[in-house]
Amino acid sequence: MNYFENMFGLSGKTAVVTGGAGAIGGVMSDALLQAGANVIVWSRTRKSIDTFLDRYKGQTEQLNRLHGIQVDTGEEESVSDALEQSVAHFSLPEILINCVGGNMGKAPFLDIDLDQFRAVLEMNLVAGLVLPTKLFCRRWVDEKIKGNIINLTSMTSYNPLSGVWAYDAAKAATLNLTMATANEFAEYGIRINAIAPGFFIGKQNKALLIDEKTGEYTERGKAVINHTPFNRFGDVSELAGATVFLASSRASGFVTGVSIPVDGGYLIHNI
Ligand SMILES: NC(=O)c1ccc[n+]([C@@H]2O[C@H](COP(=O)([O-])OP(=O)(O)OC[C@H]3O[C@@H](n4cnc5c(N)ncnc54)[C@H](O)[C@@H]3O)[C@@H](O)[C@H]2O)c1
Repeated sequence: MNYFENMFGLSGKTAVVTGGAGAIGGVMSDALLQAGANVIVWSRTRKSIDTFLDRYKGQTEQLNRLHGIQVDTGEEESVSDALEQSVAHFSLPEILINCVGGNMGKAPFLDIDLDQFRAVLEMNLVAGLVLPTKLFCRRWVDEKIKGNIINLTSMTSYNPLSGVWAYDAAKAATLNLTMATANEFAEYGIRINAIAPGFFIGKQNKALLIDEKTGEYTERGKAVINHTPFNRFGDVSELAGATVFLASSRASGFVTGVSIPVDGGYLIHNI
């Protein structure tokens, strides 16, 4: 085995990626697959799983290491069932990527729609972190597995973005809970870290950043670029390296409780 395979290779490991058929989850799933892991994509709809698996049509070796399971990660019973199905299909996963999450809407504080506010907190915190973390860590503690979790933080975990109140709160809490759970489970050898993507144009933010009619950047889109020292949006493929680094216990075995920004320098912007 060469040095790079030994350091970053994930052969023999099994990973679950929640929201794994999404924009970022898809890239992270692919990164783990290319590094040799068995990958189970957890997604809400069968259609999104099939569309994701279709990308690997004809690639038998990859398809043998890839599986999709339909789940609602906001429902404890559904997460529990999906975990059992994952164990039965490959083996008890040692890696969990919590990629369920996203934003809905943008409004002045005085116009907050409370149903939507609760739904965003529920999606990012309960479905996006708490339930999968609880069920995986329960199994890992019981079976003495040194598991590994990667959460998805955001620029708003550090500096609030305007008008997206629940998303601000949820992602600040994701950073907090990444540190708190890393501390809680360190005694079992379980590592919990996060990746904080900067601005990547995706489904959740496209309408805020690009004017649908003209195709030009919105004022907010321009503000993001002006605030990013690399002067551009990121490409989701740029999240693959950090994913493999954190997933590999040989590469990052002494790293826990951190959030790695992949942001073109957004967080170090100054005047
Ligand atoms: N796109 C960005 O620029 C960006 C930046 C920072 C952080 N993030 C975070 O990265 C993560 C992934 O974002 P994305 O852009 O890939 O979003 P996405 O909408 O493309 O993917 C999220 C996936 O999660 C699934 N999902 C939602 N609720 C679910 C549930 N209860 N059960 C099962 N599946 C569910 C959705 O169906 C979707 O496929 C999110 O946590 C997001 O907040 C994204």
